[in-house]
Amino acid sequence: MISEAETPAVEPLLSVHDLKASYDESIILRGVTMKVKPNSVVALLGRNGVGKTSLLRSIMGLMPKTEGDIQFEGRSISGMRTDQRARAGLGYVPQGRDIFPNLTVQENLEVSLSISGKAGKERLEEVYELFPVIKEMLGRKGGVLSGGQQQQLAIGRAILTNPKLLIFDEPTEGIQPSIIDQIEDAIHLLKKQGNLSIILVEQYLDFAKAACDEFYILDRGSVVLEGESEELTGEVIEKYLTV
Ligand SMILES: Nc1ncnc2c1ncn2[C@@H]1O[C@H](COP(=O)(O)OP(=O)(O)O)[C@@H](O)[C@H]1O
Ligand SMILES: [Mg+2]
Repeated sequence: MISEAETPAVEPLLSVHDLKASYDESIILRGVTMKVKPNSVVALLGRNGVGKTSLLRSIMGLMPKTEGDIQFEGRSISGMRTDQRARAGLGYVPQGRDIFPNLTVQENLEVSLSISGKAGKERLEEVYELFPVIKEMLGRKGGVLSGGQQQQLAIGRAILTNPKLLIFDEPTEGIQPSIIDQIEDAIHLLKKQGNLSIILVEQYLDFAKAACDEFYILDRGSVVLEGESEELTGEVIEKYLTV
């Protein structure tokens, strides 16, 4: 029998190691190391322009790295294309409303089902329950939905890829309050289900703190502080996050 002291540490689901990335001449990520445990929520915080979106894009294979490594379930995914990372279990809700405007809502959802197959189809009802408006608007073109509805569709689409890690980049940015509540509820519910991990970039710090288990704060492409949810104090917010 293994005694408690000998129980091995939990293997991280995602492990970003000393990741560096640049746009042309300017260095954007300066050696970021970050871990996401299984079934946990990590808030990724920091002021505008510090590199949060760039880090997420690197994790998804949308921005090339210059150095470092990204491991998922213990294996390097650095050489994988974005679609391969999606099939491996990385779901991404990008900043802004990145849906297909000329496809219907249903067709937008089908793009995800083509990645996840049966496992994704089994989650359709869950998505309709989280966001009833999606079911009501299946036949409409994505482009005619309101901003908040498009964001709900983008989240629904990511859930249908049946991810092991779901990455949200400012899901409530620029969205009307009534829909923000629905999006926050959906993220809490996904967390409660407890069968996936989440990375959440979010400017609403009360919500980020309530939702997360751990946080990382970026500043100018580096992690300047990491800790557990309860360590995200007013003092920390004042020092690293207020404008
Ligand atoms: N396509 C791009 N080309 C050049 N620089 C970019 C590009 N996208 C973002 N940047 C720069 O990279 C830095 C980090 O941006 P970003 O990752 O979007 O930060 P955040 O998400 O934290 O606001 C910023 O200085 C931004 O101006
Ligand atoms: Mg951003």
